[in-house]
Amino acid sequence: MIQVSNLSKRYVGRTAVDGISFEVGQGEIVGFLGPNGAGKTTTIRILTGYMPATSGTASVAGFDVFRDSMEARRRIGYMPENVPLYDDMRVKEYLRFRAQLKGMRGRAARKAVGEAMDLCGLTEMRGKMIGALSKGYRQRVGLADALVHKPDLLVLDEPTNGLDPNQIRRVRELIKQLGLTHTILVSTHILSEVEMTCDRVIILDRGKICASGTPADLVGRLRTARTVTVELRAGAAVAADKLKALPGVKKVVKEGERDGWTLFTLRAESGRDVREAVASLAAEGGWALRELHAQGATLEDVFVDVTQSGRTG
Ligand SMILES: Nc1ncnc2c1ncn2[C@@H]1O[C@H](COP(=O)(O)OP(=O)(O)OP(=O)(O)O)[C@@H](O)[C@H]1O
Ligand SMILES: [Mg+2]
Repeated sequence: MIQVSNLSKRYVGRTAVDGISFEVGQGEIVGFLGPNGAGKTTTIRILTGYMPATSGTASVAGFDVFRDSMEARRRIGYMPENVPLYDDMRVKEYLRFRAQLKGMRGRAARKAVGEAMDLCGLTEMRGKMIGALSKGYRQRVGLADALVHKPDLLVLDEPTNGLDPNQIRRVRELIKQLGLTHTILVSTHILSEVEMTCDRVIILDRGKICASGTPADLVGRLRTARTVTVELRAGAAVAADKLKALPGVKKVVKEGERDGWTLFTLRAESGRDVREAVASLAAEGGWALRELHAQGATLEDVFVDVTQSGRTG
């Protein structure tokens, strides 16, 4: 559905997107993830035909987004980062106006607006002024607008931005439901959202793709646990020093001491399982060991790992 090849965008003085390539297949829900300024919105704006690329190509449903811009746009429903809405229009009125702009007329337009409102849970709000809607409902109007012309592909730029947890949950459910009938590319900062809704994740950092795969794949790539809990009967200070000196251990935190037992949490370098070394250390020191437990990596660990490598602090 989406094909992006070697795409770059340079603004004056800075490269926002730096030679990225990716594909999104029909029916997939793909999460577009990355820290502020990573280039997500820039990529999305190129894909949706709002801005030309500096180099590279992008196509949607086989149509080049530059050369066949009209054909490509017909197949895309785009919800921008800040949905521009007309506050002094009623929901139904606004959506009908948008449907007309997208070339729909008469009964077909009315029917499409009804269906979009229905899908987005807006039917009860159809007569309300947009200016009087809560943020969550405004987002839904933006979504209804994006899908009113029945596009195959929905491109959503941070659809849950600024919503409260209940609204986030509702929009997330809505995206999941829309995913049954649409291909979706959704950008977000919220990792749990990606884990729950997306088939695949593309992580962007400083204009480059630094990781991509299913959430489970990405977590699996960090393979080993990053956090290890260990409880020892040993002098706390000596044990802490020796643990810290183990290869691959980045940080040692003493969680507590009780009846001669000390509980530590260790933070390990990525890709490193330090449990065996900890066990050997305990054996050498003659320390009793009653807990040695590793926590699996989360998507958050992956995100931090891939977007902070090479950065200090
Ligand atoms: N119109 C513009 N002119 C100059 N630089 C821009 C322009 N738009 C974006 N940039 C820069 O390009 C880089 C990528 O911005 P972009 O908005 O694509 O990031 P993003 O991943 O969407 O970030 P966020 O998560 O904050 O929305 C940033 O460094 C930004 O400052
Ligand atoms: Mg953005």
